[in-house]
Amino acid sequence: MRLTAFFILVYQSLVSQAQNPLYIPPALTGPVFNLNIQSGSKMFYGTNATPTYGVNGSWMAPTLIVNKGDSITLHVKNGLSVKTTMHWHGLHVAAKNDGGPHQIILPLGTWSPSFKIRNNAATFWYHPHGAGQTDPQVSKGLAGFIIVRDSTEASLNLPRTYGLDDIPLNVQSKAFDELKQIAISTDMDTALFVNGTLHPLLNVPQQVVRFRLLNGSSLRSYNLGFSNGQIFYQIATDGGLLDTPVTLSRLRLSPGERAEILVNFSGLIGQTINLKSYSSELAKGIYGADSIGKGIDIIDAYNDNFLNGSDFNLLQINIGATSVNPVITVPLSLVPFKHFNITSATRYRKIEFDTIRLLPADVPNLADGPFGMNHKSFDMETINEIVHLNTTEIWTLVNHTLVAHPFHIHDVQFEVIEKNGKPISISDKGWKDVVLIMPNDSVKFISRFETFSDPMVPYMYHCHLLHHEDDGMMASFLVIDTSASTGIINVEQVHYLLYPNPAINNLTFQFKDAIHFAEVNIINVLGEIILKQTISNSNSLILDVSTIKEGMYFIQVIERGNTENNRFSIQKFIKQ
Ligand code: C2O
Ligand code: CU
Ligand code: CU
Repeated sequence: MRLTAFFILVYQSLVSQAQNPLYIPPALTGPVFNLNIQSGSKMFYGTNATPTYGVNGSWMAPTLIVNKGDSITLHVKNGLSVKTTMHWHGLHVAAKNDGGPHQIILPLGTWSPSFKIRNNAATFWYHPHGAGQTDPQVSKGLAGFIIVRDSTEASLNLPRTYGLDDIPLNVQSKAFDELKQIAISTDMDTALFVNGTLHPLLNVPQQVVRFRLLNGSSLRSYNLGFSNGQIFYQIATDGGLLDTPVTLSRLRLSPGERAEILVNFSGLIGQTINLKSYSSELAKGIYGADSIGKGIDIIDAYNDNFLNGSDFNLLQINIGATSVNPVITVPLSLVPFKHFNITSATRYRKIEFDTIRLLPADVPNLADGPFGMNHKSFDMETINEIVHLNTTEIWTLVNHTLVAHPFHIHDVQFEVIEKNGKPISISDKGWKDVVLIMPNDSVKFISRFETFSDPMVPYMYHCHLLHHEDDGMMASFLVIDTSASTGIINVEQVHYLLYPNPAINNLTFQFKDAIHFAEVNIINVLGEIILKQTISNSNSLILDVSTIKEGMYFIQVIERGNTENNRFSIQKFIKQ
């Protein structure tokens, strides 16, 4: 089996060497975006049709160009025969507009979130985010760019003509099976795409060109560089412009991460160079390096994939004549970076990456998973963390496994402040929403949770290796507003009477109708669950709170109906 796969791969790489013009996704501008998710097919290999997905087409998705401050509406129509979701990766939006696993779009359904663009100018992306369904849907073509512009960025002398000197590059590796269907959960991701184009070729003018790099791959990290040894300048990270351009000859990009770079092609007219991944230089443990794991804790077919640990081309670049009004210099400074104040952090959390057992018979593998966060696998009905609105937190991410995991959190951009107890290097500075955590590494970031709270709808944090995410390496957090004046945080979501409140000994829940199943948690101000009780097929519950210390608490009730519609509420409770 492995051998067959190997010969097919060699054959593929021999027959399809012709260069194809790089696809530049069409740019849409708001304020209303109609995004029709559809299925179709493409001939990537000879006459074999590969089933694909796309937005407003059968393959890949348009680029959304928006300005900070714009109020936009997106009509996302699901033309697939399976349910989907659409997540605006990196955008600071309310949880109900975030497009995580809880905002399901049924087949033929339309989801129409409206929100204001609050992020600074940077490169974001959008992709499905269903529970267990992210990898298959992204791999089949559902991934598009979101470019946010703002006045600060506009005042800088930067290339910004989309498709001409401002080029989106979504680098993805994909696996195909013998029938040329896009395959999931295999380590044979040997087909390299940029913007959905195999063996892509791009003509650029001989001047300063901006590339908006996105690693949209399911698993693979890249170590980007140019075949002529060309240096380049990183100007932006995931969430915004840096304070000054950083001069580089290599840039490591893990799945989910973005980077904007400037490349000065002046004087190179007539030349052809390649954007490559120098994966031979990737540190061990990163998916894409020459080795992962040790002993029995390895990924089975990993060493059969010839991309791992080798250097390969991603994009052929032909340099032509200068365009009108070229940018010919790289700015010396960009946007001042406003650091978070570390002393303002009021809450510390630790998120540990480890293997988990999904089934009792599972033998988890430290290189191959399944992996969890804080020893748990993702569950739609569980809230893993509760964050208070308008507070600053420091999270420590600890990797106990043998593979590097790109950690991503929704809602916020963060600042990495420490790696393995040491101050960070220049490559980790700037606004981030994805950070790669090496095996046995521990990374601290700081962020502030602002603007949006919702006692019902959670945000996600997860590993952006899509196979890991789908296998459960994901968790959720609520942002709740503890200053809500009435004591009930979301009145219309509370389907029960709670009395007495304040209470001394017994606390009674009287549900409005008999409920199938509910979980009641009493949570202290630190967000820790101190009392947990369940109720089934009844309409009341009496909790003994006599041993709880006096003070303020939150009561979280998760009501599970017979249908998929769970109801979730939080309210304040005072123990006397
Ligand atoms: Cu790009 Cu939660 O994802
Ligand atoms: Cu995201
Ligand atoms: Cu992972």
